[in-house]
Amino acid sequence: MSSYKICGGRALKGESFCQGSKTSSLPILAACILCDRTVELDNIPDITDVDATVKILTWLGCRITRSGRHMTVDASGVHTGEIPDDLMREMRSSVIFLGAVLARTGRALISAPGGCEIGLRPIDLHLNAISKLGAQIENSAGKIECTAPEGLKGASVTLSFPSVGATENVMIAAVLAQGETVIRNAAREPEISDLADFLNAMGAKVSGAGESTVRIEGVKRLHAAAHTVIPDRIAGATLLAAGAITGGSVRVRGLIPAHLEPVIDILEQAGSEIEIRSDSVLLRAPQRLRCVKTVRTMPYPGFPTDIQPPVTAMLCVSRGTSVVIETIFESRYKYVGELVRFGAKIRVDGRMAVVEGADRLYAANTVTPDLRGGAALVLAALAAEGESTVNDIRHIDRGYEDFSRTLAALNADVRRTEE
Ligand code: EPZ
Repeated sequence: MSSYKICGGRALKGESFCQGSKTSSLPILAACILCDRTVELDNIPDITDVDATVKILTWLGCRITRSGRHMTVDASGVHTGEIPDDLMREMRSSVIFLGAVLARTGRALISAPGGCEIGLRPIDLHLNAISKLGAQIENSAGKIECTAPEGLKGASVTLSFPSVGATENVMIAAVLAQGETVIRNAAREPEISDLADFLNAMGAKVSGAGESTVRIEGVKRLHAAAHTVIPDRIAGATLLAAGAITGGSVRVRGLIPAHLEPVIDILEQAGSEIEIRSDSVLLRAPQRLRCVKTVRTMPYPGFPTDIQPPVTAMLCVSRGTSVVIETIFESRYKYVGELVRFGAKIRVDGRMAVVEGADRLYAANTVTPDLRGGAALVLAALAAEGESTVNDIRHIDRGYEDFSRTLAALNADVRRTEE
């Protein structure tokens, strides 16, 4: 099992370059299946969720080259729409392949993705929307088979919740459908706009991405394209929160500051000074962070659920009491039990966490429950005096590129151990 050994109590300082977006890369890689020409991608992060996605693409018949953050995908050889169970299980979000393989092959056979550490992760919104486009759906014994032998037809789809994944699946499925598809109550995250930019670069006709109504005019065929994935706003925000919890000064470059507005607001409420430039954000932490009355996670442009765990960890050393309300996922506080080992004073009641700021945190030996919960534990370890251990960091590897090296470059004393 891989672990981090962290000697905390050191202020993070310096500059870091933000990785490419995980949440953008996964649907964009899946969408390559729509095109039988070679696609060039840049700024793809070196994380294990991308590795799992590449495994599925290869299984489906794609030829992939990878050099650092540059990738080429040749999907001309795609010969099946069946994704085996073991590959589906490697990454919960592999449901994002549904729309792409169905649109390309006329059939998709996947296993129900199942829940994960932060919730049940149902896919009813995906399936209801895909069926509106004319797919026949058989959902039994843990297997989901979607067929559209005559191809998909454009339709009007209203999502009961602005689901990121469901919006992405419908956008991708609609690209080669006959006629126009309109998605209402679509997710507005920046990664939706990034996906639309990629699809349009291949010759699709997507408009309104980033707003609540997205229109996709079906086209017959796509052509080769090149695309650079946007920066990962969650990874960038995590580094800023790390600067805040350690009383340091951190500049994250290669960011799109507008994507972090709701997070920057909370960091400033907690007392940090923020300097925004065109492609970077500098955070200077105060001597002691202030509590924040209410942090409520919401769909974009609200405060993102993925940065809730790191920000909750940050609030553990603030002065006063903060209230965190998680409105997106039903069990996204699994990491709190581990945070308490550091001396954090947090009470969880359903979707609400009440954080009573502590004067200091103490080194602890902890286990990572999930991707962003793991990041929260790392931040607590960076702030705690003494040597902490954060175990089972495979969760962190899913979404943070070489996290220990990134933090060490910011003056953290962190090393990775393999047992
Ligand atoms: C994406 O998950 C991200 N995952 C999540 O990041 C992120 O937290 C989430 O969007 C919200 O921003 C990837 O991009 C791989 P949703 P997704 O569909 O698409 C419910 C991370 O840490 N829902 O917007 O699954 C669902 O249960 C991960 O990087 C349904 O009820 O999120 C949840 O309560 C975690 N039925 C809410 O909607 C559905 O069919 C939001 O889910 C789909 C979703």
